[in-house]
Parts: sequence; C-alpha cells; structure tokens
Amino acid sequence: MCGIIGYTTNKKDAVEIAIAGLKNLEYRGYDSSGIAYNDGKITMVKSKGKIANLDDKLKSLDTTSSIAIAHTRWATHGEPNETNAHPHKVGKVTLVHNGIIENYATLKEELIAKGYEFKSETDTEVATAYIDYCYATYSDKLKAIVEACKKIRGSYAFDIIFEDEPETIYSTRKDSPLIIGYGKDGNFAASDISAILSYTNKYSLIDESDVVRITKDNVTFYNSNLEEVKKEIKIADWDATQYQKNGYDHFMLKEIYEQPKVIQDIYTRFYNNCDYSDLDITSFEKIHIVACGSAMHAALVGKYLLQTYAKIPAMVEVASEYRYAEELITPKTLLIVVSQSGETADTLAALRLAKEKGAYVVGIVNAVGSTIAREVDKCIYTYAGPEIAVATTKGYTTQVAIFATLAINAMKKNNTLVNEEKIKSELLNVENVLNTIISNRELYLDIAQKIYTHNDVFFIGRGIDSAVCMEGSLKLKEISYTHSESYSAGELKHGTISLIEDGTPVIALATNDDLFEKTVSNLKETKARGAYSIFITTDNYKDYNFDEFADKVIMLHKTSEFLQPILVVVTLQLIAYEVAKLKGCDIDKPRNLAKSVTVE
Ligand code: AGP
Repeated sequence: MCGIIGYTTNKKDAVEIAIAGLKNLEYRGYDSSGIAYNDGKITMVKSKGKIANLDDKLKSLDTTSSIAIAHTRWATHGEPNETNAHPHKVGKVTLVHNGIIENYATLKEELIAKGYEFKSETDTEVATAYIDYCYATYSDKLKAIVEACKKIRGSYAFDIIFEDEPETIYSTRKDSPLIIGYGKDGNFAASDISAILSYTNKYSLIDESDVVRITKDNVTFYNSNLEEVKKEIKIADWDATQYQKNGYDHFMLKEIYEQPKVIQDIYTRFYNNCDYSDLDITSFEKIHIVACGSAMHAALVGKYLLQTYAKIPAMVEVASEYRYAEELITPKTLLIVVSQSGETADTLAALRLAKEKGAYVVGIVNAVGSTIAREVDKCIYTYAGPEIAVATTKGYTTQVAIFATLAINAMKKNNTLVNEEKIKSELLNVENVLNTIISNRELYLDIAQKIYTHNDVFFIGRGIDSAVCMEGSLKLKEISYTHSESYSAGELKHGTISLIEDGTPVIALATNDDLFEKTVSNLKETKARGAYSIFITTDNYKDYNFDEFADKVIMLHKTSEFLQPILVVVTLQLIAYEVAKLKGCDIDKPRNLAKSVTVE
C-alpha cells in the first residue's frame, strides 16, 4: 500500500506542502518516495528510503512551483529503488499510484508492440503509458483516463499531470482510497485525510471510477460516462494534532495510552445512545466473521464472546481465504467484516463476494468514510481516532470492545445475560482499570529485559486466552522482529514443545477460572524443559503459590469475559513495545510493513 498526494495552488509552495502532507502518509509505506512539480517543465525527484531522504534532495533545488504530485511507496512490483519509485512519466503523462495493476504484463506487451519503452519494473509505469496512449488516441484527457481505466484491471488511486496542462491535476480511483481536499490557497487529491488536515478539514469522497479535474480554483467531478456530478463537501472531525506524537516517544505508545478513553467511549455510547441497537444478530442462520491480521485476532475474541457466552455459533476466516473457500453464503448469512483502515483489499473483496451472494454485511471499522465503511450494509464505527503506528493497538482493542457489546445485546435478546448491572458498571469504569494496568511500565520493561535477547518466544493459552495470545505474538513479531508462536496451551505437547530449550520464554495467559489449572499444567510442562515462564492471570489467584512454575507473574483485575481480553492484551502490547525499544527497532514503521494493505 502507498500514499499519494497532489496539490495545485495560487501560490508557489506546492512542493513544500505536498512533502509535508506526504510525511503524514508515510505510515502507508516508506521504502521509497518521489515528487513531480512544474518549474517550467515537469520535473521529478525521487529517493530510496524514507521521505526525509527525498526532503534532503529537494533542499538543494529550486522547487518553486504551484503544482506537485508526490508518493510514498510500499513496493509491490520491483524492488525499492529510485527507478521504481513514483512518480512515473511516460510521454505527456506524469502519474503517482496507490494500488496494484493486475493485468500490467498484458498491457505492457501491447504497449511495447506500439513502440513504448519502459525503464522500471513497476505496474504503475505501464498504467502511465496506457493513459498516455489513450490520450494520443482520443486527444481528450478525461476520455483518455476513462478509456484507459476500462482496460486496466486491479486497484488504483491515480494523481495525474498532463504535460500540456501543467497546472491541473486529474484523479481517479478504484478500490484504493482517494479524497479531494479544499484548501484556502488551492486544492488537494490525497490517499487520506491525514495528508491535508494541516491545511483544510473540508473534503469530498470520490466514488469508484469517478474522474476529477482539479485546478487551484475549481474541482469538477465526472462519472465514468463523463457526465458532471456533484459531490458533498464534508467536514473532518479530526484535527491535525491527532496526527502528532504529542510528547510520546512513538505513535504506538501514544495510541496504547489512548486506549482507556476510546474504549470507555465505546461502552458509554453503547449504554447511552447506541446506533446499532437495532442490529439483531440472533436473527441470522449463521455468522461469518472475516478480517486480516490483528483484526482477525479481534474477530477470534468476538467469536468466543458470541459462541461461548451468547451461545451464537460464529465462524472466523481470514479474508484472503474466505474469498476462495466455498463458505455457503446465503441471504440468511450475517457477515461481519472487521477493519481498522477500512481499506484492506482482501477484506473488501470478501465483503463484495458476500454481498453478491445476498448476505447482510456489518462492518466494524475505524476510518470514517473508508471504502469498507461505505460498502457494508451497516457500519459500526469504533471511533478510535487516527491510528498512525503500523502495529495496531487501539484499533484492535476497540474492535474487541464492539464485539463485547454485540454479545451483550445478543444475550439480552436471548435472555441469557446475568449480572447485567455488574457488567455495566465494570464496562463504564474500564478507563480507570486500564490506566492502572498501563501505568505498571516497570513490570513490562523488566519482563522485556528478560526476553529481548531470545529469538523464539511462545504464547500459550486456552479458550478466549488463546485468541489473545495470537495478538500478543503478532505484536512482538511485528515491531521487534522476534520470532514468536501462539499456541493453544493444550496443543503444545503434541509436537511444538520440542522447540522449548533452556531459557526459551513462554508467556502463558490464564484468566478463565475453569481452565486455570490446565493452563498451569501446560506451563509446568514447558518449565520442566527449561522455559523462562511468564504467567498472566487475575487477582482471583492472589494467594496462589506460583514459585514452582512461574519466573514472572502479572496479576490483573478479575473482570467479566467482556473486558478481560482487553486488560490482558494491553500488557502484551507494552511488553512487545519495550522489547522493540530494547532492540532499537523502528517501532512505528517496522520493516516490510504498511499500515493498511490495499493490495491482495
Ligand atoms: C496489525 O498490527 C497489523 N498492522 C495488521 O495485521 C493489520 O491488523 C491488518 O493488516 C488488518 O488491517 P485493517 O484492520 O486495517 O483491515
């Protein structure tokens, strides 16, 4: 996934503003970057690595310009280098792209036969050339874009400058996000609102295959029939400061500390003005929950809450598999898709498949107005605010919190909810409990110091704890590059325990009283083979003797199953954070990753 921004203005600072905006998109991909601007001719400057490298190059140039298109890359075709970095220029067309062109090889052959030559390995250069070919064919820019996009298969958000109209940006999108921003000195076309919030909070969304003509004074929208269409001007309710670290060392740490409030807000809204109380999930024949990565881990917790406690069967599948497995989707199927960014290609494809088969689709989404949020039948926003760190924290925990409210609603519906008032008071007091857990930083640092030199760390748990183990393991892998496995505690002895050596860190979660002793036994089995054991449980066991099998113990406030997973995962987030810090990793922008994977 990549980030793009275009800006055209009545001033001469387009390069400076485009680069500033691009830096707010860096979390979308950061292996190379580039910019094109008009200094009498369309000039391109590119650089491998982070945007700071591009910025350094520009400092030695005269970049006075009233237009710029810029790009920060997460490589899909061709290694990260200056040749493959965007923008790409072919003939009269200069272009930046977020997405993936699936039929680029066929188009490339066609274009080579027409005399085109290519410098890069990218699919984007092929798209650029194809638009140039269509422009040469139709001599009309809007028609050239529309005709080219009829042949281009895949996902794209394009910002385009034509050489013979060097003060105008043309944009279009399919499957990749793009918004139009209205500034006081000019207009923007960017991947998301974070790129432009320092300059404007006024924006419009672009529908699939719309084409937009953007000048410094006007924005004109056309549908794919080239009929002019009007778009609503929206006001973003986020502000630019939410995209700054505000004193924290990392965005990830800031977002960990934001969790108590945003989770509390979910439960407060749930009990006061819930906008999904009309959603009756008990009325469906079956429930599929589909997502990727951490969102899938949240889905697994949701499944336990729905199935084990609300007695509603639910199936969880990763989106990249769901699309190709025959999941017997019918109009009586409820599909719940979970996505922080609302742009994950596999999840988007899964929801489109389910809708084609008549299923009712609910989205649990953070990014307001995102593609998934706009295409589901019912969107439940987590309202966690912008999440910049590539490794999700509040994105995951707010998804779990929404699942907890869906399970509570279902249990009220089927009269299986007991202790309702006690549960409600716990949920409405979660902010204090979470703040206390987060404040215990010394304990997490102490544990991190014991495990950060190891290359293999195991997370084990039973029931809902095994789902939380998956998220704890991913956090550690993502940001500290430590290999880690999450294993159902009872399964470890069926093979994987052979990997346990002297000092191998094993983190066991045991928050469910019914499974406590069994999990203790499983941890003892690893201890007997030399493991360094970390035991995370609840204060129901404050008098328990852990000496025999636990080198470190974290004891958390015992609460209902609707909250316990959130309390536990926050400790795992902070352990992973401290390990990554000790290892000197780039915590907010881990290698090889991007914040939202908008390619399949
Ligand atoms: C989580 O830390 C990862 N960055 C990744 O697994 C992420 O959860 C996954 O790509 C899904 O993203 P989404 O929630 O935006 O759809």
